[in-house]
Amino acid sequence: MSLLSPNVQDIFELLADPLQAVKCSLLAVAPPHSQDLADTVRQSLSSGGKYLRPTITLLMGSATCNDRREPHSHALIEAAAVTEMIHVATLLHDDVIDQSDLRRGQKTARAVWGNKMAVLGGDYLLAQASVKLAKLGNTRLVSIFAWVLSDLCNGEVEQMQASYPPPNALWESESQWESYFRKTFCKTASLFSAGCESAGVLNSLTEAEIQGLKAYGRHLGIAFQIMDDLLDYTATEEELGKPVLGDVRNGLINAPILLALESDHLTPASRLALRKAMQTLFKGPDVKAAEEIQTLLLDCNALEETRQLARRQIQSALDSINFIPDSPERSALQALAHYVLERRQ
Ligand code: IPE
Ligand code: IPE
Ligand code: MG
Ligand code: MG
Repeated sequence: MSLLSPNVQDIFELLADPLQAVKCSLLAVAPPHSQDLADTVRQSLSSGGKYLRPTITLLMGSATCNDRREPHSHALIEAAAVTEMIHVATLLHDDVIDQSDLRRGQKTARAVWGNKMAVLGGDYLLAQASVKLAKLGNTRLVSIFAWVLSDLCNGEVEQMQASYPPPNALWESESQWESYFRKTFCKTASLFSAGCESAGVLNSLTEAEIQGLKAYGRHLGIAFQIMDDLLDYTATEEELGKPVLGDVRNGLINAPILLALESDHLTPASRLALRKAMQTLFKGPDVKAAEEIQTLLLDCNALEETRQLARRQIQSALDSINFIPDSPERSALQALAHYVLERRQ
């Protein structure tokens, strides 16, 4: 795991012990019978993810814990492990849906073991996450994470249905934005929010306080996905460890494209050129079309506006945790929010 910003490195030092406990919990998952399934699960859990969701869950737990002697209870460690298991399961499934062969700089599970094994590996992790939750005996936590799974399915399907080629009339309509934010919450932010909520529940916070923690997770998660959608156009494959321009190749119309299509800076001719280049890329790899899309997005300021969109979400995330007393953990949550806007991997 390597997050480059120095502030974020400090966070990992702050959390060295509980994160190690989360890793042990992940490695202790009951092994599947089949060697291929076991390899799929093990490789996907230990291939160098950023551990962002468990990190946020642990920080929220310790920032809002009254017992300074035990800020990372067994239940908090397990809840943090569950967020990573669900996350990794969604990556296994997502790479099948997106037909993607590169993740974390390595071949995806579907590329090594095939789509069927990748889907079953994801299912296995979701099942083991449910076992962990059941053992905690906290029905609210079971319900929180069950809703995340429903959100994930809803988000992926909404994304599929909003994908290219939609009828032209829809491209400029308001409902595209509603759909974009709904699917972004469902496929990504719901899990961030659930990690924060479970930390509040485990610390027996008031309902109003728990809503504050959830709001941080929701806004941070939405910003994280908006930035991911931006990085698809602005980062390199080496930086991200996954393919770039994958979204437009899969016909996905995310914030950068939505902003470009409604931009006053784009002439009707450039708008047409953008659609044509998207069509070309949708049919298969094409360096010229990819460069044209990148230039058009840059020229009409859509990339900068996408960053602004994420920045507004980050401001809301920061506002949501103002009520938490000052502590190194609260500062770490603030630093993580800034990191989301700066990350290149
Ligand atoms: C990737 O998430 C999937 C998205 C929600 C965009 P991360 O970037 O947190 O994935 P890893 O675990 O660090 O590889
Ligand atoms: C996020 O969507 C994946 C899930 C949360 C399931 P993306 O498709 O943008 O994620 P990457 O870019 O493949 O990591
Ligand atoms: Mg994907
Ligand atoms: Mg992406």
